[in-house]
Amino acid sequence: MAKILVTGGAGYIGSHTCVELLNAGHEVIVFDNLSNSSEESLNRVQQLTNKTLVFVQGDIRFEKELDQVFQEHKIDAVIHFAGLKAVGESQKIPLTYFDHNIAGSIQLMKSMEKAGVFTLVFSSSATVYGELNPSPYQEDMPLSLPNNNYGYTKLMIEQMLQKIALAEMRWSIALLRYFNPVGAHQSGQIGEDPQGTPNNLMPYVTQVAIGRREKLSIFGSDYPTADGTCERDFIHVVDLAKAHVLAVTNRLDQQGCRAWNIGTGIPISVLQIKETFEKVNRIVIPTEFVHRRVGDLAAFYADASRAKNELGWRPQYTLEDMLADSWNWQKQNPNGYKS
Ligand code: NAD
Ligand code: UFG
Repeated sequence: MAKILVTGGAGYIGSHTCVELLNAGHEVIVFDNLSNSSEESLNRVQQLTNKTLVFVQGDIRFEKELDQVFQEHKIDAVIHFAGLKAVGESQKIPLTYFDHNIAGSIQLMKSMEKAGVFTLVFSSSATVYGELNPSPYQEDMPLSLPNNNYGYTKLMIEQMLQKIALAEMRWSIALLRYFNPVGAHQSGQIGEDPQGTPNNLMPYVTQVAIGRREKLSIFGSDYPTADGTCERDFIHVVDLAKAHVLAVTNRLDQQGCRAWNIGTGIPISVLQIKETFEKVNRIVIPTEFVHRRVGDLAAFYADASRAKNELGWRPQYTLEDMLADSWNWQKQNPNGYKS
């Protein structure tokens, strides 16, 4: 069993991963500046697992804060979630994104190197495949510049990680390329709690369902897809969290830098999400069709066979589970962790 530092561990995917790490018997130290999360998520992680974790409030951009954590705890591996993730915002304040995501990741690598910790799992994104690759995306396809600054930071960090692993054999790095994470822990105790207006589809749908928003706007109905709305590969956040436990175990045992897609491989349209949510949860989602959102791709989904073959990872949850669990979380927590 290992001692794992989880940067950004109080956030949506991080908190679910802490549950799976603790349940698998690992020790967890969360390092998070709480800029987009609440410590309450970690209280609930501990209640759910009946185990304790260590929480350190700090910022990955700051050398002293990070170095102190590595001095105080004998860390075996790092799972790195910390960063900013709003695509639209990244177009308005690119420097802030470069600072938190790129400079923050560089500082983390430096502190790890100083402490002699070389095992890292990084939260990447399907966005690194750019606009030209056909779906299903495969890990060895050529990557290209994403059309937004957030995606650019993910590509940059991936490339830096590849290069440090080539230069120093002790590094062992997993690049997990997430598709579209949705859902929540089945207890409804932890889930996605975006600040302000949600950018992503799923929290928007659940906030309409709970009455916090009037209606869902579907961005574009004239895409070259079966029903004209965009298609994505939605993955249950608990399946995604489990992939991190498998990846960190794999990396503690191997060298080099390796990428894995984490998606179901099944394209689902935006309209299907709305209709299936209505059916599974017996709630009507008032909806309007509006013009396309700038930068959206018509469709993309994963070839997840590498994660299956090499990590033994298989998604277990269905689309219906994802939509029922998202609603269960929102229903129990109408105002997120503030309720
Ligand atoms: P989140 O915002 O819920 O979690 C990120 C956490 O990082 C938050 O708790 C935030 O407070 C913390 N943080 C931000 N900047 C920090 C800093 N400088 N120092 C310390 N902590 C900091 O987001 P999430 O959805 O859980 O995403 C986790 C990771 O996965 C991110 O790197 C994100 O880019 C990546 N990712 C997310 C998605 C998605 O759709 N949710 C898709 C692909 C990749
Ligand atoms: N959508 C709507 N209405 C909304 C919100 C979203 O119709 O209110 C649609 C979008 O147009 C898109 C689909 O729902 O077609 C999914 O949108 P999300 O914003 O939930 O997710 P994206 O696929 O745009 O974004 C995801 C990740 C990013 C990543 C990006 C790569 O959240 O981390 O894929 O394209 F960078």
